[in-house]
Amino acid sequence: MTSRTPGPAFCLWLTGLPCAGKTTLAREVSVLLRDRGFDTELLDGDEVRHGLSADLGYDRASREAHAARVMFVSKLLVRHGVIPIVALISPYRRSRERARSEIGRFVEVYLSTPLSVCESRDVKGLYRRARAGEVRGMTGVDDPYEVPESAEVVLDTSIRTPAASATELLRELIRQGWLPGAGQEPGRPPAPAAGLGVASAPARPA
Ligand SMILES: Nc1ncnc2c1ncn2[C@@H]1O[C@H](COP(=O)(O)OP(=O)(O)O)[C@@H](O)[C@H]1O
Ligand SMILES: [Mg+2]
Repeated sequence: MTSRTPGPAFCLWLTGLPCAGKTTLAREVSVLLRDRGFDTELLDGDEVRHGLSADLGYDRASREAHAARVMFVSKLLVRHGVIPIVALISPYRRSRERARSEIGRFVEVYLSTPLSVCESRDVKGLYRRARAGEVRGMTGVDDPYEVPESAEVVLDTSIRTPAASATELLRELIRQGWLPGAGQEPGRPPAPAAGLGVASAPARPA
């Protein structure tokens, strides 16, 4: 049997440019949460495109449909006490806001890694191919990315190791009351804490 998430679940939605570090952070934070007894499920955009979204392309309608499918699965997971960790470019504000209102308990994490850093990482060589005109519709090059205006957490992975980014995110989730802190009952509002150098919206009620 899998572990049950202590306290109400929520959706952790990681958005950002290609190579911003979404998949890496999703995996790292999943390990930290599982170590603490939380039940998580990774929903990685690239993986979902091999299955549930295999029929979709990269035009706006397809990208919105892709996000809507991930949103639907996330909503079911949250309802069943599992924390979905979504790693999805999700370039359109409208998609993310729809996910927020549909899912309810929603933590938007914007990976604000600068385009120049994302481009220098270029793990799949897509930026290079996009610059060379060999691929079209590359987010950040010739396709839009709408920067979140009210993300709960903003993290720049160019100034932190993956492990440090995950620890920072976990601390922020505790600070905002999404996760219980040490010695705290699950689902209770957090005690006020000093800022951690992570840009974030005011704490939301748990
Ligand atoms: N915090 C970080 N510090 C240094 N390198 C990172 C960090 N996060 C990700 N990376 C590196 O950046 C590259 C792209 O990361 P990835 O997680 O695949 O991005 P995304 O899923 O957003 O496309 C990988 O080579 C990864 O090792
Ligand atoms: Mg990825």
